[in-house]
Amino acid sequence: MADSKIAETLGSARLDTVPFSGIRKVFDAVRVLEEQGRDVIHWQIGRTDFDTPDHIKAAAMESMKRGDVHYAPNRGVPALRKAIAARTTMDTGIDVAEDTQVIVMAGANEGVLVSTMAFVNPGDEVIIPNPNWHHYKSCVSLAGGVPVEIETREEENFSLLAERVAEKITPRTKMICVTSPGNPTGCVESKENLEALAKLAIKHNLVVVSDEIYNRIYFGTDGEVAPSIYAIPGMAERTIIINGFSKAYSMDGWRLGWTVASPEMTMNLLKIRQYTTVCVNTFIQHGAAAGLSGDQSAVDERVDAFRERRKIIVEGLRAIPGVTVAEPLGAFYAFPNISAFGKSSQETASYLLQEHAIATVAGSVFGSGGEGHLRIAYSCSTEECERGVERLAHALKQLKKL
Ligand SMILES: Cc1ncc(COP(=O)(O)O)c(C=O)c1O
Repeated sequence: MADSKIAETLGSARLDTVPFSGIRKVFDAVRVLEEQGRDVIHWQIGRTDFDTPDHIKAAAMESMKRGDVHYAPNRGVPALRKAIAARTTMDTGIDVAEDTQVIVMAGANEGVLVSTMAFVNPGDEVIIPNPNWHHYKSCVSLAGGVPVEIETREEENFSLLAERVAEKITPRTKMICVTSPGNPTGCVESKENLEALAKLAIKHNLVVVSDEIYNRIYFGTDGEVAPSIYAIPGMAERTIIINGFSKAYSMDGWRLGWTVASPEMTMNLLKIRQYTTVCVNTFIQHGAAAGLSGDQSAVDERVDAFRERRKIIVEGLRAIPGVTVAEPLGAFYAFPNISAFGKSSQETASYLLQEHAIATVAGSVFGSGGEGHLRIAYSCSTEECERGVERLAHALKQLKKL
């Protein structure tokens, strides 16, 4: 047999349950355009344009110099677990034990995969919003579970409404995944809706995975961080918080995140994680500990910059005839509706990229509910956002004539 057939014939059936990431495909297409010398508007990826703050880098380098080059504990180094527990208490008002409730993960994404592997049996149903960050659907599928996608609507700011979740709960439902602030929409769940979701989770004995990676990039009025379902009475014992350093600290390349859950649920997670990455690089954990427990002004600066960019993007989009956009209350995404232009989201995204060098992601990448939309990640510079909306207005005007 030719070598080229080995992967095809011997690959696991699991491979057929997940697609290649639609976002990574845009990433590759952008690289080709840039090699051709095109000036691309980078709205394709949720990676901030900022550098990691210097004091975090310095602490990591110091740790490496000290010789922190060996395996860390499976749960993470104590200094970082302590900082994560303190931060979670600050964000949710709930006491968290650093020794038993925290695991440092290789990015929030490891937390998502480990959570599904630790709690989802083959055939179990997992509630996820549609559209949603596409890794949830894939991680549920990899664990053998059945993703049950719940419609969310632009006119309801893409909230995962408890009443719609209730309609889809069956005896096979095991887990609800909440992402707030959300990717790709920037939606933030209200406290009232979180309370209604919590009631459902308690009534039907469900695990809740609460992805809070954008919780500090929040533009709402009721506090500095987006509300967390973990804070609701009765929820700390059944919720896994997923969070990380990629967004608020511009540390996506460091691959560092965490889970917080009850001591018992954490043991389940720990058992799986012993066979995934074992532990995260020791010296980067010391850098991150300095980040979480030290001066937070770099996070404030980032949030201020995203607030300014959000204004440019939302006002710019709303000024384009035919475009509507729900108010994003968190993260750094806008999810404009471009269905009035009569093309699919993939056709529109390809047209914008190839003809006008504007890199977005087709809404359909995030689920059928994303059709008719584009995801704009305004995690690029303010100047690029300004140029981008001007170019987009022109490109969509041209599209109307095609
Ligand atoms: C909602 C959400 N969760 C998790 C992640 C992954 O974060 P990390 O880089 O920490 O794996 C992302 C990245 O885009 C995200 O949007």
